[in-house]
Amino acid sequence: MRYAVFSDIHANLEGLMAVLEKCEQVEADALVCCGDIIGYCADPNACVELVRKKGVRCIQGNHERGLRDLGEGRAPNMNPVAMEALAFTREVLEAENLAWLLSLPHEAEIGGFFHVFHGSPSDPDEYIFDAFEAAYAFKALVNEYPPPGNMLCFIGHTHVCAAYAFDPVNHRVAEQKVRDGDLFAIKPGAHYMFNVGSCGQYRGGLPVATFCLLDGDEMTLEYHFLEYDLRSCQRKVIAAGLPSILAQRLSLGQ
Ligand SMILES: [Fe+2]
Repeated sequence: MRYAVFSDIHANLEGLMAVLEKCEQVEADALVCCGDIIGYCADPNACVELVRKKGVRCIQGNHERGLRDLGEGRAPNMNPVAMEALAFTREVLEAENLAWLLSLPHEAEIGGFFHVFHGSPSDPDEYIFDAFEAAYAFKALVNEYPPPGNMLCFIGHTHVCAAYAFDPVNHRVAEQKVRDGDLFAIKPGAHYMFNVGSCGQYRGGLPVATFCLLDGDEMTLEYHFLEYDLRSCQRKVIAAGLPSILAQRLSLGQ
């Protein structure tokens, strides 16, 4: 079985469509999203409806929790630009789409052998940017989740692809920066955490949409970096009256 895992769509329909099209080409059997389906870009309804139509297994990200906070009269813990986008999202979201987003779980076990989290196994709002931070996350993964599901997990939230491997014998974490086409072998005895980057607002310095393809039979993982019609997405961000920085950063991959 081949699983396509992606994250942080952020209402970027063009980025999502590029990823889904590639998933069809590579004949992925199942689709999984690590949260943040909405926020930042202008197509929250279309993105929610598309992931539902495609049967994507989704969890909540911090932007979905921000919607919940807004609905319950609490101020989400977000910067002003993210808040502006969240207010726009709340205004335009169809009631059914909002209810579906709020019904999503915070984490999920998939196929009985891996987990997906938004930020980290220990905290959905935690950013993991390096091996030091990953070490704490592995501790939570190994101690709080039973095998074999604690061997492998996927995260998003930083919007930057990265690969971490944990050796439980010497307690060391190896970190690898990821490029398009990189292929990883998942070996028994180690634990792995892969950041799948972002479909909708990649921040690794490239104007791309990213995802991972996990082959559950071969136990290999391949990264895909895709070009997409970001001009169309940018035009819609501006037309919607969202902060222009949200359009500009897509070109920069920041
Ligand atoms: Fe995000």
